[in-house]
Amino acid sequence: MNIRQATTDDLLAMQNCNIMNLPENYQMKYYFYHALSWPQLSFVAEDHKGRIVGYVLAKMEEDREDEPPHGHITSLSVMRTYRRLGIAEKLMTQAQKSMVEVFNAQYVSLHVRKSNRAALQLYKETLKFRIHEIEKKYYADGEDAYAMRKDLR
Ligand SMILES: CC(C)(COP(=O)(O)OP(=O)(O)OC[C@H]1O[C@@H](n2cnc3c(N)ncnc32)[C@H](O)[C@@H]1OP(=O)(O)O)[C@@H](O)C(=O)NCCC(=O)NCCS
Repeated sequence: MNIRQATTDDLLAMQNCNIMNLPENYQMKYYFYHALSWPQLSFVAEDHKGRIVGYVLAKMEEDREDEPPHGHITSLSVMRTYRRLGIAEKLMTQAQKSMVEVFNAQYVSLHVRKSNRAALQLYKETLKFRIHEIEKKYYADGEDAYAMRKDLR
């Protein structure tokens, strides 16, 4: 398994992986927005044949002057047959590292469904995120989100 920075050539495969694994899907222009604005922050996992089997799509939130620069995980997923191999953990660790090194991020944020046990375990126990607040009815189907954060300083 190879973990590397995503390029614009990977975006279609990332979108495909996203559609297979999550109900939150995005137009191709949103992938380009990430890859062109913060090319250092998104990563892919490819198998021995070069097929994309996981990705993390990430960005910086740097528009608000009253808040320190911080990263945000827009989307993360791993194809079903490649799960529990440590791929998501590696993708997240790489993205967090680049947020600090390239953009001086003070913390990283993300949203996760209250019912998403696997992701919650990954964020809380493995990666040491904490629940910052609950965002009621954050998702299109009405489910609440945990807004989670991890200090990167
Ligand atoms: C959540 C997801 C990204 C995890 O990917 P993964 O590559 O399997 O995760 P890792 O192998 O890096 O797991 C690291 C740790 O997270 C936790 N974890 C991961 N999947 C888990 C599961 N199904 N149940 C319980 N804990 C889990 C474990 O602590 C695991 O460590 P361990 O395997 O040593 O026990 C993957 O299940 C997925 O793509 N799910 C669908 C999309 C999704 O929910 N994305 C997140 C949206 S916020």
